[in-house]
Amino acid sequence: MSDYWDYSKADKKFNDRVKELTSMIGKMDCEKNTIIEVGIWKGTSSIAFSKHFKKVYSLDIVKSAIDNLNSKNIQNIEAILRDDKTCDIFDDESIDVLYIDGDHSKEGVMTDLKELYPKIKKEGYISGHDYEGNNLNVKKAVIEFFGREPDILVKSKTCKGCSNFIYKK
Ligand SMILES: C[S@@+](CC[C@H](N)C(=O)[O-])C[C@H]1O[C@@H](n2cnc3c(N)ncnc32)[C@H](O)[C@@H]1O
Repeated sequence: MSDYWDYSKADKKFNDRVKELTSMIGKMDCEKNTIIEVGIWKGTSSIAFSKHFKKVYSLDIVKSAIDNLNSKNIQNIEAILRDDKTCDIFDDESIDVLYIDGDHSKEGVMTDLKELYPKIKKEGYISGHDYEGNNLNVKKAVIEFFGREPDILVKSKTCKGCSNFIYKK
């Protein structure tokens, strides 16, 4: 097990984010084989997901985020530098959970949903961060896409307006 799971060695923000994501995953009553996450940054969510899923596909458009995550040598994470064709590598209805935390513009979230929603299994989950943040871009995008409010909201411990949304497919 990685040192990242020794909470005494990590900072409070890291620990709070991991706890928040652990709580979110606990609300998903699906298989936990595979997750695609959009947006790696320092890798906190990737690390949190690697504890609960057999395989984590972590996408980012910035190479340094990929290199940093790879340097942690977490065996069940595959960090992928995203381009226009990346989402095509996943088969339709093959992935248990999607987590969106990349481009927070309304158009960016819509693109993620259009490209990756088909990849999620029936009875799987579509989730993401910053529901009420970023001028409500994320909220506007997901409500337009799904035509309803999220099934579940998980409050963020790390910042106001950063709730995690969850929709069951
Ligand atoms: C808020 S950070 C992600 C934080 C991370 N999910 C966590 O909780 O630890 C956003 C990341 O999304 C990346 N990003 C921006 N646009 C993206 C896109 N279209 N696809 C994938 N990643 C993107 C940025 O490079 C940045 O690393």
